Amino acid sequence: MTAYHLPALLEESIAGLNLRPDGVYVDVTFGGGGHSRAILSHLTTGRLIAFDQDLDAAVNIINDERVTFLNQNFRYLKNNLRYLGYKEIDGLIADLGVSFHQFDEQERGFSFRSDAQLDMRMNRKSGLRASDLLRTYDEEQMASVFYRYGELDNSRKIARAVVKARQTKPVVTVKDLTEAVESLVPFNQENKFYAKLFQSLRIEVNREMDALTDMLTQALHILKPGGRMVVITYHSLEDRLVKNFIRTGNFDGTAEKDFYGNLLVPFRAINRKVIVPSEDEVAKNNRARSARMRIAEKI
Ligand SMILES: C[S@@+](CC[C@H](N)C(=O)[O-])C[C@H]1O[C@@H](n2cnc3c(N)ncnc32)[C@H](O)[C@@H]1O
Repeated sequence: MTAYHLPALLEESIAGLNLRPDGVYVDVTFGGGGHSRAILSHLTTGRLIAFDQDLDAAVNIINDERVTFLNQNFRYLKNNLRYLGYKEIDGLIADLGVSFHQFDEQERGFSFRSDAQLDMRMNRKSGLRASDLLRTYDEEQMASVFYRYGELDNSRKIARAVVKARQTKPVVTVKDLTEAVESLVPFNQENKFYAKLFQSLRIEVNREMDALTDMLTQALHILKPGGRMVVITYHSLEDRLVKNFIRTGNFDGTAEKDFYGNLLVPFRAINRKVIVPSEDEVAKNNRARSARMRIAEKI
């Protein structure tokens, strides 16, 4: 049996949380529960609340009275915690993106390596599938997704190719999509091209950037002073948002000043330089290679 997930930067992230044994912690991306289990091993009377919008993650629920699992999107962090009676927390970890399980389950349609319906929803109970998006978005909307979230230079041509293909046959499977755009793949860069294309669709389908900005904004409000936030990202767009937010408290990276001209910054960055996995970790877990971690302490 293949692992549900192997957690990235496990030791470094747990050290970054600076855990208090009696604290209240939130893991907003439970997945296989690797980070959650490590947090729990440091708690005595503390509590752990774990979110995952994918019900599949519930198979990994930790049977411990100190843990609450919520099958919820983390963009509703604050309301869910308030519902449970928590107004403040001591720390939060977010390990963004998809789990190995989601990527490897062929029928979920996250991977370009096997043919399947283009679904890509992390929460299979709601929202548009990738195939719905390829059916309903106009050329301009699609090009914008490919450009913004895939950073693909030829995004307009790709969108045009999809629109052309769907005039004769709907684009609903991985194969339909790869066939529609194959003439645009740069020489010898097939994997890179499709990885970016599929990433862009996944981000749009799951509204990942909106969920991230909503969650970070709420995390700032509910973290206690001195509380830590650890965020692991897997692509530069997410990392830029997290970096700006930690530096300035907003997403475009311009810090506000008070009446006297002093910078108003809500966090202290614990690591000045982004933390990446060691060579040793990448050798053992190649999928962790693009992980980037930032740690912040609420002032
Ligand atoms: C990289 S995995 C986390 C792995 C986990 N740290 C572990 O040790 O197994 C990301 C998980 O976060 C979940 N996820 C991503 N975005 C989410 C969101 N907006 N709300 C809730 N869960 C989300 C995914 O469903 C996936 O299971």
